[in-house]
This record gives sequence, structure tokens and C-alpha cells, in this order.
Amino acid sequence: MTDNNNAFELYSQRVREYTDAFAASKGHRPRAFVRTFGCQQNEADSERLRGTLVFLGYEICESEKEANCILVNTCAIREHAEIKALSVIGQYKHLKNADPTLIIGVCGCMGAEKHRTDQLKNSYPYVNFSLPPASDAMLPEALYNAIKRKRDFTRLESVAETPDISPVRTDKSKAWVSIMYGCNNFCTYCIVPYVRGRERSRPFADIVREVETLISEGYKDITLLGQNVNSYNGGCTFAELLYRLAKLEGDFVLRFMTSHPKDVTPELIEVMASCDKVAKHFHLPLQSGSDRILKAMNRRYDREKYLGHVNALRAKIPDIAITSDIIVGFPGETEEDFAATLDIIRTVRFDMLYSFIYSPRKGTPAAEMEEQIPKSVQNERFDRLLALQNSISEELNYSSVGKTLRVLCEGGSKTDSSVLCGRTDGNKLVLFDGTAKAGEFIYVNITDAEPYALHGKQI
Ligand code: SAH
Ligand code: SF4
Ligand code: F3S
Repeated sequence: MTDNNNAFELYSQRVREYTDAFAASKGHRPRAFVRTFGCQQNEADSERLRGTLVFLGYEICESEKEANCILVNTCAIREHAEIKALSVIGQYKHLKNADPTLIIGVCGCMGAEKHRTDQLKNSYPYVNFSLPPASDAMLPEALYNAIKRKRDFTRLESVAETPDISPVRTDKSKAWVSIMYGCNNFCTYCIVPYVRGRERSRPFADIVREVETLISEGYKDITLLGQNVNSYNGGCTFAELLYRLAKLEGDFVLRFMTSHPKDVTPELIEVMASCDKVAKHFHLPLQSGSDRILKAMNRRYDREKYLGHVNALRAKIPDIAITSDIIVGFPGETEEDFAATLDIIRTVRFDMLYSFIYSPRKGTPAAEMEEQIPKSVQNERFDRLLALQNSISEELNYSSVGKTLRVLCEGGSKTDSSVLCGRTDGNKLVLFDGTAKAGEFIYVNITDAEPYALHGKQI
């Protein structure tokens, strides 16, 4: 690592010389804006990128328009995510025309795809550099090249170790803590193992220290993150890590995502059941209810095993919220396979579902499979799945009316500031009358419900 560390130090110093000179001549530090697409892991990575930018002498600004440097932290999970990012990058062309010294960098999962970085280099000539995910260690070199216009386009590819720099967190009460990076599972549809590399777990002592600091700073809602958070092995098991963290002093709730069904253990369920500070919520992606499709997806569990986890969780934690991800229209999915998915959804009655239409990802085995499902069939199945889940969510929400739920207040609602909003342990949106401040835990009496939200009064 020493070579990387030396490069990081050397380029950091050079970038700081530039940012200091900029500040001396312009009267303010150069401003950087980070735009984020994708999952919570990417949100957390963006907070670290902002931390590195501040370390390099930038100040973080709230809009592209005032920025001297824009980083776009991209997602590659589905084609739609890539198209959205490319369209936003396309809109930055006129900003670059107005200010040719503007630095534009593309980071994140698209930055690890050769065909996308080729596309950026060839068709987006105003983009200065691309970086793969979690590569703060290479940001100074990329910035330095851009500042000095040393190269038209810098493409840095290897994933280096992340420097120990504090993130700039966007929220005052909620915090992300990445505990592991990467993925070893190679589900046949998924790009993540290719763009994020193999699993790396952070040492548990570092994680405990970070969480202690967050608690002392007043953070109330702490989410442990990883592509497969429960495959953690940084010196102890995930269940042990969660137990240690849940025993820390203070008033906070611990969440974690995303879990892989293959690594759900009785110990983990026990820790969730016995520790008050662990949110009674399990996000456990199912993907499909058909054993044939699960096998073709390389998911390493079947229906029975999945249902076994659901039953074990509910036996120990009767009020647990269980949510999931489903892919509709995977290659070869028959009407019978899809019926098996609807059937398991009816059986489990998930509190919430995130459903996605299958999107072929270049370089993954599923993209090469025969029997790709026509768009019209995918859309029709997707609509049926949504209708089913909406009716289940609505029933579950109505069954909460009359109950008292613990809610973490997030402040005024976006649509009506006279109403407060917050989230239950299961991450359900609650709109309520009351006097709570953002970041406070309170109890709300639920008086009404809709498919996507609960209404109530603070008690
Ligand atoms: N590591 C997590 C999920 C990461 S990606 C897990 O294994 O569960 C988040 C979700 O995106 C996945 O659960 C899956 O439902 C969806 N997804 C991944 N690749 C996809 C693709 N090619 N097309 C459509 N949805 C996809
Ligand atoms: Fe993708 Fe599967 Fe890894 Fe999840 S476990 S990130 S779906 S390859
Ligand atoms: Fe997207 Fe990368 Fe997350 S592909 S979903 S940003 S891991």
C-alpha cells in the first residue's frame, strides 16, 4: 500500500497548493458539488468523496451552478440508472462551455465499466476523468491532472485502499457506516461484483470506534452498509458486531442493509430479538419465488430456505417488518415461474417490496442467456406484481390503525410543513401532528392509513 499512500500524499499536497492559491486570488475556496445516483452505499461513498474534497481544500456547495468541480457518483445496476447519469453529465456541457476551468469527474460504478469510460472519453470530451467506486485514494491524482490539463482524460482503474478521512455527512441524525465493500456472489444478472470487486470487511474495532463517535455527536439512526452486510468477517461475525454495537451507551437505533439470505444465521436473529437498539426490520432480497429461476440467478437458496428464514424471524420477533427486492422478467421466466413469485408474496406478505424489471448488464451471464423476455410481458407482470403488493401494503397499514408505534421524527413533511413526518423501525413513513424535533424518538398513535403512509398523533 505504501506506493498508493505516497501517491495520495504527493498529489494531495499538489492539489492543496492549487486550492490555496485559488483561495488567495479569488477570496473563497474552490467549490465542489457531488451528485449521487444509486444505492445507500453510493450515498455513503459520496459523503467520503466530500470528505476527501474538503481535505484537499475545496468547500462543498449545494448546486452545480456555483461549482468549480463536479463529481457525478454513478450507478450501473440497471440501464435506466446509467441513462439518467449520462443525461445529467450531458447537461453539464453548457456549464463547461461557460467556464472552461470547471472540472468534471465521473465516479462510482459506471467508472469501472470499460465500455462506459470509453463512451465518456469519446463522446463527452468535457469530462476530465473517471474513477471506479470507493477510490478516494486516486481522487487527488485525477484532480491534479485535470487542474494541470496534463491529459485530456484520466482513467484510473485499480481499486486502492480508502484513506482514513472523515466523511462530510449530509444528515444530522441519520448516518451511514460502510462495514464491508464488494461482493463475491456473482448472481448471474448483477454487475456489482464486476464494478465493486471482491468482498473486503473493515476491522471491527474501526467500526465500533466510528459508531461510538457518531453516538457522541448525537446521531440517532445508524445504518450499517454492505452489498451483503451479513457476510461481514472483519474479525468477528456480523451477529457479534451487531451485538457489540447494540450494547454501546446512548439513545440510538441500528439498522443494516442489504442482507443475503444465504448468510442469515440463528445468532443474527437472536441478536435482533434480544437487543432493543436494533430496528425490528429485515430487508432480505428474494428476487424470485421460483426455484428454477433462483438457480438460474445463482442465488444459492430456494423457496423453502427463504420461507424458513421468514418463519424463524417472525417466531422470535412477531412484529418485525420484512421487506424485499424482486426482479421481474428474468430470462426464461415463464408464467408459472412468475405465478410462484406472486404466490410467495401472498404467503410472506412483505411490508414493502422494491421491484425491478430485469435489465441486461453487459458482461454478465444472464445478458447472454437465450429467452430474454419481451418488454411487453415484463411490463404486464410488473404491473400485476405492483397491484398485489399495493393491496397487501394497504391491508398491513390499515391493520396498524389504533396501534402506538415508535417513530424517529425527520422534521416537517415535504408536502405540508404544518405536518411532521418520520419513520418507524420498519422504515414506514408516518405523517403526524405533534411537537417533536428532527432526530427525536417519539411515540405516535396511528389514526389512519394509506398504501404508502400512516397518519397519527404524537403522544
Ligand atoms: N446485494 C444485494 C442487492 C444489490 S442490488 C442483494 O444481493 O440482495 C439491489 C437490487 O437491484 C437487487 O436486489 C436486485 O433486485 C436489483 N438488481 C440487480 N441487478 C439487476 C438487473 N440487472 N436488473 C434488474 N434489477 C437488478
Ligand atoms: Fe449483486 Fe448478487 Fe452480489 Fe447482491 S449478492 S450485489 S445481487 S451479485
Ligand atoms: Fe448501483 Fe453500484 Fe449501488 S451499481 S446499486 S451504485 S453498488
